[in-house]
Amino acid sequence: MSTTTTDPAVPGSGGFSPGSSRPVTGRGGARTLAVTSGKGGVGKTFVTANLAAALALRGQKVLVLDADLGLANLDVVLNLHPKLTLHDVFTEKATLEQAILPAPCGFSVLLAGSGMVEYSRLTPDVRDKLLHILELVKPRFDWVLLDTGAGISDVVLFSISMAADVLVVATPEPTSLTDAYATIKVLATQQGRREVGLLVNQANRVGEGKLICGQLQQVLQRFVGSQPGHPFKLELMGEVKSDQTVRQAVLKRQLVLEHYPGSDAAQAIKALANKLLAQGQGL
Ligand SMILES: Nc1ncnc2c1ncn2[C@@H]1O[C@H](COP(=O)(O)OP(=O)(O)OP(=O)(O)O)[C@@H](O)[C@H]1O
Ligand SMILES: [Mg+2]
Repeated sequence: MSTTTTDPAVPGSGGFSPGSSRPVTGRGGARTLAVTSGKGGVGKTFVTANLAAALALRGQKVLVLDADLGLANLDVVLNLHPKLTLHDVFTEKATLEQAILPAPCGFSVLLAGSGMVEYSRLTPDVRDKLLHILELVKPRFDWVLLDTGAGISDVVLFSISMAADVLVVATPEPTSLTDAYATIKVLATQQGRREVGLLVNQANRVGEGKLICGQLQQVLQRFVGSQPGHPFKLELMGEVKSDQTVRQAVLKRQLVLEHYPGSDAAQAIKALANKLLAQGQGL
């Protein structure tokens, strides 16, 4: 298994130092983006899968890693019935090549399988295996998107720490915002991140994302961004309105990008992909 070079001074550059939850330096290859949230059920898997499709439609080679180990549901959203998963790679019953599957719109997925109690705790073994897999896939793709679990458990924080950049998904509900704040605060204090992306999902009106981002940024600035020369930046990466087509697509296990390309939600996800592409390196 490969080792990573610890460089906590480079937040947002991928990797993990065992024993801490600080991101460490990776070795090039794909841009890695963790899609996470404080509260569960806010739309992480919907955003990750459709963002992957939008990037693939722009000619990018994209892998989605189902990093919600144990409670994975990317396969459900994509209507895939994998015979081989990350678990089989971990236990050496399958090779990485066998477990990486094609998804609609031309991106690839590495699914985790559901109900694996052994992955609800972060053991050194799981940590090493995940890092090893990431190092193997990074040179082969332009993007690796990690669909993580919700909250601030050590498993979730570890999967986030493997990514150079983080996109926090939140809805305008007060409970979602409180939990998003808690997550972002931990990312700033434990992982040393000075820049985190925010996607406001299920917005009720245009401009709600900007308002929410401004409010969160204000509180965060007060509590985590006060060191001179190290301002904390929460960047609004997108706003997806509450859209009936998303519910329909999820129920039918389809991608909004593929089946409702003209919908507000599809347009908003395309705008997110364009913004990420325009940013070049790093959020
Ligand atoms: N923009 C939207 N408009 C309407 N409904 C939405 C939107 N985004 C998500 N949803 C609804 O929210 C549900 C949950 O979405 P999703 O499974 O992506 O959340 P999640 O954050 O991945 O959940 P978990 O924390 O359980 O992994 C979807 O099934 C869909 O019905
Ligand atoms: Mg999910």
